[in-house]
Amino acid sequence: MSVDEWTIEKALQTGIIMEEGAYQLYTNTGKKVVSPGSKQMLKELAADELMHKEYFEKALKDPKKVLDTSKIQDLKKLVKDLGVTDPLKEADLKSDATYQEILIFAAKSEKLAYEFYSALAKQFKGHPLSAMWDNFAQMELGHKLKLEKEYEDVILKDN
Ligand SMILES: [Fe+2]
Ligand SMILES: [Fe+2]
Repeated sequence: MSVDEWTIEKALQTGIIMEEGAYQLYTNTGKKVVSPGSKQMLKELAADELMHKEYFEKALKDPKKVLDTSKIQDLKKLVKDLGVTDPLKEADLKSDATYQEILIFAAKSEKLAYEFYSALAKQFKGHPLSAMWDNFAQMELGHKLKLEKEYEDVILKDN
């Protein structure tokens, strides 16, 4: 998709698909891991992603409730060049991936999500929406750090 086709609506829809994917990944992986610490971490990540998804869904369904419509006016308004990779274009994870591969994939996805939301925050600088996107960006960055710590604790220490 060409970058100049981004709209607030499209960004929210992309967010929903991305958050749903992350929710599924953490939920499914949580069922497979044995360590209670890993299970707990994945459960927390899954809950965050579900919350993100629901927030965007609400924003699309009833923008007035979530977004500042006095300034947004129209969800179809074009967003300028975001200058980031479309987070949905990334390759899928194979179904027999190891925990190590999943952690690497997930951390990479969190980085893409962080970059995507950061780019949106930049686009909306000075606008109430900027804080919302920035909030999401910071949460995804936090997820990335959590996954990296898990990688260090579980994968590197086991090898
Ligand atoms: Fe998220
Ligand atoms: Fe995340």
